Amino acid sequence: MKKTIITLDGHSGCGKSTLAKLLAKELNFLYIDTGAMYRAISLFFLESKQILKNGKLNSDFKNTLDSVNIDFSKPNENGESWVRLNGEIVEDKIRNIEISNLVSEISKNALVRNKMVLIQQSYSAISNLIMDGRDIGSVVFPDADIKFWVTASAEKRAYRRWLEYKQKGKNISIQQVTQNINFRDENDQNRKVSPLIKPINSIIIDSTDMNIEQTFNFALTHIQNYLKK
Ligand code: DC
Repeated sequence: MKKTIITLDGHSGCGKSTLAKLLAKELNFLYIDTGAMYRAISLFFLESKQILKNGKLNSDFKNTLDSVNIDFSKPNENGESWVRLNGEIVEDKIRNIEISNLVSEISKNALVRNKMVLIQQSYSAISNLIMDGRDIGSVVFPDADIKFWVTASAEKRAYRRWLEYKQKGKNISIQQVTQNINFRDENDQNRKVSPLIKPINSIIIDSTDMNIEQTFNFALTHIQNYLKK
């Protein structure tokens, strides 16, 4: 049977992964966090010392690409699963400012993107899906059943990310977070391969002045109306 695919795209820190997780739990869909995949492959290149001082990949990186395996752990009873790099759960190693600063440059690379997109598409054979990222409704699944474009002001996004770091006990200034958000917005929107765009026919969710419950109810109503048809 054809699987239902729901995509969420948007800038860094707009709340799409929080929303995606809640929707996946409610609907019992598989949630795939594609940002985590780009973070995991950045960690691979960092640990294997393939990132040059200017943040670009060295020319040998192509030879190691085949040896990188990125997938997700089996969902637990709460539907949560974590990204794995060559079999190891790397969730804790990828959520820091060092990886956040590297990932934009790595995710510009066409070979890296091709590999990630193939893995992402393969999940549609397994389960109904909620997938979030930057190019999901535009490139990975342009014919998805429902596409959301999640947005919020840059100030609000930086504040939310800063709060997340703080709650995890990570000591970082709001200025550093703002700088990183602006830098990634710029890179994500202007890269040559699969830039961040609002996907055609996507439904806008502007979460600047909405709390998570409001965005959740808004998205869920759309999905339920669609599934009823
Ligand atoms: O969602 P996130 O902040 O964890 O994503 C990390 C980076 O990965 C983001 O700056 C851009 C990149 N990314 C991408 O290029 N394409 C995707 N589908 C998902 C993320």
